[in-house]
Order: sequence, then C-alpha cells, then structure tokens
Amino acid sequence: MKYGYFDQLNNEYVITRPDTPTPWINYIGEGRYGGIISNTAGGYSFDRDPRYNRVLRYRYNSVPQDQPGRYFYIRDDDTADFWSPTWQPVKAAVENYECRHGLGYTQISSSKSGIESRARYFVPVGKDFEIWSLKLENRSRKTRKISIFTYAEFCFFDAVMDQQNVDWIQQIGQCSCRDRIIYFSTFIKDKYTYFASGSGVHSHDCALETFIGKYNDLGRPHAVLKGKCSNSSAYRGNGVGAFCIKAVLKPDSEKEYVFQLGTAEKKADADRISGKYNNVKKAGSEFVKLKDYWKKYISAMSIRTPSRDMDLMVNVWNQYQCKTTFNWSRFVSLYQLGIGRGMGFRDSSQDTLGIMHVMPDKAKEMIIKLLKNQFEEGDAYHQFFPLTGKGDQKGYSDDHLWIILAVAAYLKETGDIRFLDMKVSYADSKKTGTVYEHMEKAVEYSLGKTGRHGLPLALFADWNDTINLDRGKGNAESVFVAMLLVYALNQLAEISGVCGKKEKAAKYVKISAKTAAAVNRSAWDGNWYIRAYDDDNHKLGASSCRKGKIFLNVQSWAVMSGIAGPSRAGRIMDAVRKKLNTRYGIILMWPPYDKFDPKKGGVTTYPPGAKENGGIFLHSNPWAIIAQTMMGNGDEAFRIYRQIVPSTRNNTAEKYEVEPYVFCQNILGPDHPLFGLGRNSWLTGTASWTLVAATNYILGIRADYRGLTIDPCIPGKWKGFRFRRVFRGARYDITVKNPRGLSRGIGSLEVDGRVIKGNTVPVFSDGRVHKVTAVIGG
Ligand code: GLC
Repeated sequence: MKYGYFDQLNNEYVITRPDTPTPWINYIGEGRYGGIISNTAGGYSFDRDPRYNRVLRYRYNSVPQDQPGRYFYIRDDDTADFWSPTWQPVKAAVENYECRHGLGYTQISSSKSGIESRARYFVPVGKDFEIWSLKLENRSRKTRKISIFTYAEFCFFDAVMDQQNVDWIQQIGQCSCRDRIIYFSTFIKDKYTYFASGSGVHSHDCALETFIGKYNDLGRPHAVLKGKCSNSSAYRGNGVGAFCIKAVLKPDSEKEYVFQLGTAEKKADADRISGKYNNVKKAGSEFVKLKDYWKKYISAMSIRTPSRDMDLMVNVWNQYQCKTTFNWSRFVSLYQLGIGRGMGFRDSSQDTLGIMHVMPDKAKEMIIKLLKNQFEEGDAYHQFFPLTGKGDQKGYSDDHLWIILAVAAYLKETGDIRFLDMKVSYADSKKTGTVYEHMEKAVEYSLGKTGRHGLPLALFADWNDTINLDRGKGNAESVFVAMLLVYALNQLAEISGVCGKKEKAAKYVKISAKTAAAVNRSAWDGNWYIRAYDDDNHKLGASSCRKGKIFLNVQSWAVMSGIAGPSRAGRIMDAVRKKLNTRYGIILMWPPYDKFDPKKGGVTTYPPGAKENGGIFLHSNPWAIIAQTMMGNGDEAFRIYRQIVPSTRNNTAEKYEVEPYVFCQNILGPDHPLFGLGRNSWLTGTASWTLVAATNYILGIRADYRGLTIDPCIPGKWKGFRFRRVFRGARYDITVKNPRGLSRGIGSLEVDGRVIKGNTVPVFSDGRVHKVTAVIGG
C-alpha cells in the first residue's frame, strides 16, 4: 500500500493521506534554529540546541498521538463546525489532504466545506526563527465567516527540566501578549520565545489551560468551541501561543495569514525581528530564497543513471538527508528526542562525508569542533553539545579514529593541505596540537592499548555501542577496531606522503602492515573473520559460537582496509551473501542471541532480529557495497544498494512503516516476527555512507589528492551514466560509457576532447565546465 509519491519536478515527497503508519517527518532550518515537523504538523522547535534551548514542547514517546505540533484550527462561525487543516489535532475528516515535504519546508493542504487551506512551515535561509503561514480560499458560493486559531505550546528552554520538575517550570514560566506578540519567558535569563501574528487579532490566550479548558484535549479546545480566546495571561502554568483571528471570505476570495516563531535575548529584539517577516510578501520572498538555496545545494552533484531510484536518492533525498545528519548527528528526531545525547564524535565524523562535496568549509568547522573534544592522549569524548561545545562520556575504542577519515576526505575534496598545520586545542589540557598531530595521537592511542592478540582493546564499546565485552578485566579486544585502525593508518600514511612527511608515511605503512598481520593471524576463522575476543579470551563471531557466529562489519572492513587478500575477500563476502543477506538488507550478525548475557552486554538485551542483534542495521550495508566495488563486483554492489533504497518500499509502506524518502537506522531482521519493519529514520550513518557508496564507489567518481578519480564499478548491463559535480572551483560534466557490458576498469579517458592517461582528471579551479568522457574497457 502507498501513502504518497515523489514529485520529481518540485523535489517534494507528497503524502496523500494523513494516517501514515508512523509520523513521516521533515526538518526545517539549516542546523541552528529549526525543528521537526510531521505530515500532520506534529513536532517541535529549538534554537541551536534541542536540549538546552527548546522552543516548542513535544510529548515524548507519544506516537501514535504525535502531539503537539504547529497547529491551526479553522472554525466556521455560522455552523460552529471546526477542523484542522493539517488533520491533527482535531482529526475531523478533510478532503484533498496533501502534505508536501520539500527541502527545508513542509506544506500541508486540505479542504472542508468549501474552504481550501494550505499551511506552510519553514525557517528562512540564514535566520533564526520560523514562519508559519495559512492560506484560505473560499470555494463555496456564499460569504463565510471564519475564525482561525493558532496553537504553539511553549517549552521551558531546558527541555529536560521541562519534564523533570513540573512544579518549578510552571511556577516560573510567564506568558503574556502585547500588540499581536505573545512572549514566553522566565526571570532566569534574558530569553524570550515569541510568537507573533502578522495580521490583526481578535483575541489571544497565553495560558494553555484556559485555551484548552480543564480535562479537554487538543482535539476540542475550549476557545475553539466557544469561537474566541479569553485574552488570558499565564503567570504560572504552561504558556501557549494562541491567537484568534476573524476572517470574512467572499466567494472565490483568498486570504493568507503569517506568523513568526522564534527566540530572542531581549524583548526589544523580539519586537524588532518579529515585525519584519510575518507579512505575506516577505514570507513569500523568503520562501523563494529557501527554494533557491536548496536548488543550488543539490546541484553541486547530480547523476543520470539507468536506475530511477539511484537518481532520486543521490540527486535529492540522500543529499538532503546527509545535510540533516550533519546538522543534528543522532541528537534530534522522532526517536532521539533532543534531550539525551548531543552530537556524536564518531557519528559526526562520518556525517562530514555526506556534505563534503558541497560544503567542505562546514565540514572543516565540524572537524575542528570534534578535534577540540579529543584528549591529549588521543581518545575523545563520545559526544558534545552544540551550544557549549562541551564534551560528555568517554571510554570508547573507536571514536577518535573516525576523525582521520573526515580529515582525509576534506583534504581530498579541497587540496587544503595547510589545514594539517592548524593548531587545535585538546579537551583536557592547555596545550594545542596541529591537526596532523591530533591524528597521530588518535592512532597512537589505539596502538598503545592492545590486548593479548595484539589487537586494540574493546574498552566500553566500538562502533557497535551494544557489544560491551570488557567486564572489568580489560582484556577484551575488538577486531573491528583493528580493521578501522588499519584503514585509518593507510589514510594517515597517504596524507603523510602528500604533505611531504616521507618518513612518517613509511612508518605508518609499516605499522598498518603489522596490525593487518595481527588480524590475519588471530582473527581468521576459516571462512570469515571473527568479531572480537571477550574478557575471558572467548571469541565472538566464530563458527564455533552457539549464537553470533558471523558478523558483517568485520567482513566488509577486512576488504575495505585491505586486510583480506583477494581469496579471503571472495570467501568472506560469499559467506555474507549466504548467511546474512535478506530481501530488506544485510543483517548485522547471525544467529541472533536469544537471552541476556552480561558478558556481551547491550546486544543481548534486544530480542532476536532487532537492532544490533540480528537486525538489518542499515549503517553497515553501504560498507558491504564498498567492499564489493573494491572487489570489482558491480552487479553485487548495485544489488545490495537497491535492496536498501527506501524509495523501493514506497508501495509496501504499510510493512516498512517509515518514510520512503530517507534511510532509516534499523529494519527488523528475519528472526523477528515483524521482519521488514523499519524504525529510527533520518539520523543514521546510513545516509552519508550510502551516498559515498553510490557516488564514490558504484559510480566511482572520487575526489582525490591529485584530482577527480574516475573508477566506476557498475552493473554489467548498464550502458553508462552521466555524473555532474563541482570540484575545487570547477564543474565536471562526466559521461561514462560501457559499450562492452563490463563493470569496471576505465580503458580510455578524454577531458575537453584531449586524451588523458590513467583515470584521474586534473584539478582546474577555473570556474569553467569541463567535459569528461570515460569508457569502461578498451
Ligand atoms: C547508533 C549510534 C552509532 C553506532 C550505532 C551502532 O546508530 O549512533 O554511533 O555506531 O548505533 O551501535
């Protein structure tokens, strides 16, 4: 069953019925002020930090209710009938319901009893507030008297306190209205949330209880029932931004109402800002600017291939999702509610890969923030909070290594080798180190903490947060981290060569080989690599294990890091296909654990088939794709890619449940009764890595130190593809032809009509378009 479709002309996903299996959400804002919004306008807002600077409240774990949100009520004052144009929260039947999730905005329209409505929500480019607009059209034959109500439920700025200490936050919250602006504040700091109406209002409510009425709910608020607000203020209790506007609509006439919601440090600022943008003209021109911004953003890279799904993902939705994961790491969604973890060190390091082609400067800023959260010893805080930059939690075995991948990608994209000499402070000392030194410390940390097999210690956890093998003896070792370390060492060796540190390059090549040898010596199980050694020297992921015999990541990374030679690579990826592949994606490990085992930790708390315990943990699938391309298997790489692309689930959404326009974090595996059900959509490393797998590996267009490398590994039956991309200040318009039905191996390459040796197109940096034609095979 389907709930919507892709509007390719407008780059929108159009939801055609409100009762999607889970709320299907979108993000507004660019990474500072913003929020999430569902297809029935549920969701919340915040300013830079959803935990410490919340603007709108959301009721956690509230699905299926998905409330509150950015609501409007429309009331026919002649009949007293009322409804919500976004369906929620009234849930009265509306006609022609349509939710258009676009890039940075959401627009929900519907009609009822001859009144057509369109609610639109967005954050203007570069601004720190949001605009709501409601357009009404009278399609009936008589003049209509209408009341419009708004509903913005304010949250105390500290979102955790807002839930924890209800007496306190209700005693200190103050909410009042002056000249069409409702202010919510406390004595604690000069900080105002304001909600402003662009048109004259009939009445208002600032007290939530007055607006809703005792024992009422959002579906039938007291004020809406009675047709007006009570002009209430709240000097304790909960604050709300509720306006009542009276409209008289002649037949075939239309009116638009604009509102602005944001925060300000001073009341005067709120007054100044809020008057500026909440008029129809300004809101309209800001909306056009937003559309232009995104058009430009996604035009940094575009493809045309024989696969509609790949085109749709790479050209629009995957790029868009990558920007969102870059903005919010794993911090704020419908699943991670912006109250717990901040920006993940390993997560954000990986997220830079998904925006590197379009905003390397932003990636660089993020890399610096992350490096500031690295300790002098080389390890790092697990996460940090965006408002303060302050780190939190430590003791993971992998976090610090991911930053090397981010730095390498940045250098390849920009050629900005001087970045390596930039001095950045450490989290725990007054000293600074260059970016290069930070990376050296990262590998030294892992090299210095190895166990009895010469592999890095597992510590609290590695990439898999839920494998917790260290029970206090400090013996447990992670094969995955060993592989990540080899990968990082190879990158560091390459970087060292590029920046003229020849001895260091040789040193890291040597250490990488030594670490790889340790893995091949101690982690080879006969047909695949084992995952880890626990504290008592027992193996995880060995054929001799009762459960958890084989894990995906150590196979993909054995290939990606070059640890597995060609024959082992073939064997392990065969085992992956035979034992781990399902029609919804590759599962993370098999067979799943069937009871809690404190010696393994979190992974065994999940029922079989869920999340890391034998679920399809999607983040790991693009690594299998990359491994397959490195082995030259274009058909298999594309098969795995297509298997996980969400747009292919559009017509079976009742089973998959989550949004078909973005990747989700997890899909329940075959050992679970709900096999195929997705959850935790949007904020996942799947976004950036799948974009990398598709563009850099399947299509094979990779930024490199010396230029743009053309190294596709495509399905044999593809006749070719087109790839356009900006790279170091020039545009590359690349056509790849595949006349002989091969998968890999560029036979000839022409740039602007001239034949070039090898498969790397030079750097031009001349602002021009360069035509590249590459032919696979002879
Ligand atoms: C979550 C975490 C990520 C971790 C993964 C696997 O997605 O955000 O950091 O690697 O789970 O446990």
